[in-house]
Amino acid sequence: MCGIYGFVAPERRDSDTVLAGLRYLEYRGYDSWGVAMADSGGLAVDKDIGSIASARTQLPPARAALGHTRWATHGGVTQANAHPHVDCTGRFALIHNGIVENYAELGSRLRRPHQFRSQTDTEVLVHLLEEATDSEDNLLEALLAAFRQVQGLSAVAVLDARSGQIAAVKNGSPLVVGWGGQACYIASDPVALLDHTREVTFVEDGQAVWLTPDGMSLHSMATGQRLQPQVRHVDWDAERAGLNGYPHFMLKEIHEQPDVLRRIAETKQQEARALADAIRDAGDVILVGCGTAHHAALSARYTLAEIAGRAVVASVASELSPSLPSIGADSLIIAFSQSGETIDVLEAVREARSRGARIAAVTNAEGSALDRFADLTVLLGCGPERCVLATKSYTAKLAIMQMVAWELAGDLARCVEGLRATASQLEVLLDREKIGRRIRETAQLIAGDQHLFILGRGRNYPLALEAALKIKEVTYMHAEGFASGELKHGVIALITSGTPVIALAPDECLRSEILSAAAEVRARGALTIGLSPSAEPELEINLPVDGGEAAPYEIAVVTQLLAYETARLRGCDPDKPRNLAKSVTVK
Ligand code: G6P
Repeated sequence: MCGIYGFVAPERRDSDTVLAGLRYLEYRGYDSWGVAMADSGGLAVDKDIGSIASARTQLPPARAALGHTRWATHGGVTQANAHPHVDCTGRFALIHNGIVENYAELGSRLRRPHQFRSQTDTEVLVHLLEEATDSEDNLLEALLAAFRQVQGLSAVAVLDARSGQIAAVKNGSPLVVGWGGQACYIASDPVALLDHTREVTFVEDGQAVWLTPDGMSLHSMATGQRLQPQVRHVDWDAERAGLNGYPHFMLKEIHEQPDVLRRIAETKQQEARALADAIRDAGDVILVGCGTAHHAALSARYTLAEIAGRAVVASVASELSPSLPSIGADSLIIAFSQSGETIDVLEAVREARSRGARIAAVTNAEGSALDRFADLTVLLGCGPERCVLATKSYTAKLAIMQMVAWELAGDLARCVEGLRATASQLEVLLDREKIGRRIRETAQLIAGDQHLFILGRGRNYPLALEAALKIKEVTYMHAEGFASGELKHGVIALITSGTPVIALAPDECLRSEILSAAAEVRARGALTIGLSPSAEPELEINLPVDGGEAAPYEIAVVTQLLAYETARLRGCDPDKPRNLAKSVTVK
């Protein structure tokens, strides 16, 4: 949610440097963008609505600059609400990722002497800073004094035109700084720094940074005292590769899944063993995540029970509270998060740690807050996921947890073989023109509908939830996944003539129950679409899958493709769905 980027350099750089940095952060929000350049005491600002991808600006080159890409929280998507926000004197430009909870109260105190130009919660910060500079002429001290007055979780960076410096503070949202070629940089994600440096410092909560023409320093927010920065070398590559001929990252990332599974089978055995050991040693095991990551956790619950006979709990990260009384020193929390920055996940693991629990992370983001916090991390290693929708990071989590379950069951080698075979099966499926055509035809049949339901049972139930989420996120249709056993307990009232219902029947798991459910909705006029190895009378349309061990992955891929094709027919942008951001760092 919102991307922060900035530099202080010995020579003047043009505004394209900032736009290039921000483009790596577009996944954090694409409602509006803004750039501030400071040189020789002057401040120049340009900002507009729309995504950073299409941003152009003609600001003069400067030795210090800040940029922002916004996901709107307080105040609509307007040019005035785009960051940076500038104080009344035109000295400071301020950008923010987070929420100022007491903005209304602060705003009413500040409103009289100050001129507010936006409806954002952020703007109070720049006026507080302006006031703080009356007593503090040191930029860092002034920012700390201003920031102490606000409540909420945030990262804030301010550019001072007078000194050509940047100061930033963090007590929630991510921030990273780097040093390279005598310039210092700041960003929400190291990926935005890799064009300039690989030596980075992750700023922790309660820390502040100060970037000046003489270098960079890290400070305690509580005392202002200088701290020794921990420099970390980033050896991974930001995937600079573009679309490789695909029209969208979503489609490209769907097609990457066979390679991802192969890579996981080859390279993740040791990490899977370590996580299996942690599960073996633990009493209660609780899996937490949000959105797609929660669905991966729910699938893992079935996998661990069926393969390893290990019962675990899976909870939406923000709904951990009913499990809290049982969390103690022998508990293990496994947190699933592609980004490793989702605020609800971070809060859940912090709460669990405070009760003595051990924390394991299953994440794609090395160096993320979750990775740094966890006692044990399994990195997905599926490469950057640029589309806002999670596709390959989802199947990567399924594969990792399948390996963990088989390791617990004493036969990891069997699972590795199985994943290799699944990867080949998926490759064939993705290449098969026939299923591609059927998916496109099915998309045409459902694209005009308002509602769609997906039925699953047993281990296919979490897959139904995830398939529905994909369709919702990218097509804006109302899609719901249900446990088919619940059909007659209310859901069936929603079925009318022509309502599309997808029935997941890829394997023997409760197959006859799923087919009965399909028959029941069909009898009430539904259009039944199956994912089944064989055509069945209950299914009017079948998108054939091979089933077997590959079934969960096949279902994921076919429903991802169906969501993609339907989105295209409905004129939706698959990579940037409205209102969503890839990384949700605010509550
Ligand atoms: C957002 C994204 C979802 C994602 C969820 C969890 O809501 O739009 O696609 O599943 O965050 O993200 P995480 O990075 O924690 O896996």
